[in-house]
Amino acid sequence: MAVQTKTNGPARSTAPSEKKDERAGRDQLIDGLNSDLAGEYQAVIMYTHFAAKLTGPYRKELRALFQAEITDELGHAQFLADKVANLGGEPTTEPRAVPSANTPREMLEQALAAEKQAIKDYSERIHQAEEFGDVGLKVNLENQIADETKHKEELERILIGWEH
Ligand SMILES: [Fe+2]
Ligand SMILES: [Fe+2]
Repeated sequence: MAVQTKTNGPARSTAPSEKKDERAGRDQLIDGLNSDLAGEYQAVIMYTHFAAKLTGPYRKELRALFQAEITDELGHAQFLADKVANLGGEPTTEPRAVPSANTPREMLEQALAAEKQAIKDYSERIHQAEEFGDVGLKVNLENQIADETKHKEELERILIGWEH
């Protein structure tokens, strides 16, 4: 009996700290994904808000662009909320504050800043997902970065030569 306890001892003694590390990694990942989710909810509200407030000769085109992005951002939000729940966390319902903008140019600049932030955040999250060993999550986040990059490049193209 005593021998059996001894041989099982070392294996058991490493298990709790491994579990603790895994839990810490999971909690960190959940926090990061919830921060990304708050950013996606912000994007949905921001593009809806800007679409409503748009004025000027390019209102129709910009409104169509913003509304098309809402669809993408909502898909991202649903993916992140699902993932947080699947990891055992509570998906946030709090969006990040929406930046204020009154002219089309200000709206485009605020939207561009938000897209750049999302790309930066997802780059960090991909690294975390890799460390956590979730290859599926890494691939999904890579796809979301590809969407945000497309949004960013489109906004940059529109802003070239925009004077007012
Ligand atoms: Fe997004
Ligand atoms: Fe985006």
